[in-house]
Amino acid sequence: MSRLEKVATHILVCRHKSCEKADAREVVKEMRATLKEHGWRRRVMISNVGCLDQCSHAAIVCVYPQGVWYERVDRETAREIIEEHVIKKIPLKRHLLHDLNHAEDNQISDD
Ligand code: FES
Repeated sequence: MSRLEKVATHILVCRHKSCEKADAREVVKEMRATLKEHGWRRRVMISNVGCLDQCSHAAIVCVYPQGVWYERVDRETAREIIEEHVIKKIPLKRHLLHDLNHAEDNQISDD
């Protein structure tokens, strides 16, 4: 069985310059530790990615398939993202940078 068969959430963490300065490494460690504590490690894939072009909002974390982007993520927020958004399915309001579901191009037009 592929490891992917159990994965329902994919988290992208920017590990480029500004986000690294904002402790992205610790963010990843905290998310992995929180997942492990809750027995969710195999259900979530965390990928380190390059610059997501939102450097002034570092550190950036994106959660899919919901398409929610978080800004200024620190260790405490990283834990909340796992416990509230990923496990309880309640996206955080704090630190929300962008929700792809509410992007203008996703709005249904009456035209
Ligand atoms: S360095 Fe993370 S968004 Fe650019």
